[in-house]
Amino acid sequence: MRKLVLITGASAGIGHAFAEHYAAQGFDVALVARRSDRLAEISADLKSRFDIETLIVVSDLSAPDAPQRILEDLSSAGRHVDVLINNAGFGLPGVFAETHWEDQRDFIQLMFTAPLELCHRLLPGMIERGYGRIINVASLVSFLPGGVGHTLYGPVKSGLMRFSESLNAETEGTGVHVTALCPGLTFSEFHDVNGQRARVSKTPGLMWQTADRVVELGARAVEKNRPVIVTGFVNKCLAVLGQVLPGGIARSLMKAQSADSKREAGA
Ligand SMILES: NC(=O)c1ccc[n+]([C@@H]2O[C@H](COP(=O)([O-])OP(=O)(O)OC[C@H]3O[C@@H](n4cnc5c(N)ncnc54)[C@H](OP(=O)(O)O)[C@@H]3O)[C@@H](O)[C@H]2O)c1
Repeated sequence: MRKLVLITGASAGIGHAFAEHYAAQGFDVALVARRSDRLAEISADLKSRFDIETLIVVSDLSAPDAPQRILEDLSSAGRHVDVLINNAGFGLPGVFAETHWEDQRDFIQLMFTAPLELCHRLLPGMIERGYGRIINVASLVSFLPGGVGHTLYGPVKSGLMRFSESLNAETEGTGVHVTALCPGLTFSEFHDVNGQRARVSKTPGLMWQTADRVVELGARAVEKNRPVIVTGFVNKCLAVLGQVLPGGIARSLMKAQSADSKREAGA
């Protein structure tokens, strides 16, 4: 039986590119997201081009029982997961005090708790079989200080990056590889969904990468069992700057850079 890759957020952007990448390598693909029409289109396309099997799991990962239900669905189909791509995500605009707690709670569930739970439920089987690959899609912002707006985005992405480092160390020698993939600005639907398209479109072209390139670098890094990969030279430089600049200077730069975000949120 072919190996199975489970990809959350497979209906667009980086997740869709991951589905293409692994399908092209001959993996069966389990596609998770909320938009069933998109998943059906992608599934049909992958099956016809790569002669693989696909499984569609329509799920809202902000529901606390979603990870367990997804894995139950796969188990009922007689499948176990060999490769896990924790990718689903979005940005929640606005300054913290002016957002609704319910939105922040759902954001944490989707962006942090669900990826951790999927890892926790899948790791024992991967270790037992002596093979597993886990990519947690974090971000360049994992390395940068907090700014104004999108208040919990940085904390969850930093947490996901540190978590991946720990898992990578804990699974050494087991055949399981764990990588935090940290892209910078990537062409996808992300900035349409979070309403930041106009603001980020002013960013110079050299700051942007395609989802295909991000995926290529992430997939290569997890094969090498690198705990963290920051994608591309420009992003690597920014990540280093975020860590070597004195805290006060780095925070002031972030505050100035994110001030637009506050104005756009009407704060
Ligand atoms: N684009 C960037 O510049 C950038 C940079 C750094 C990191 N990232 C990270 O990369 C990851 C992928 O983002 P992207 O750029 O590919 O964005 P995207 O094109 O907007 O895709 C986001 C994916 O997440 C899914 N998703 C969102 N909310 C969901 C929910 N509640 N339940 C299930 N699935 C959900 C969406 O599917 P449905 O809407 O169909 O549910 C979609 O498939 C995210 O974790 C993001 O934080 C992106």
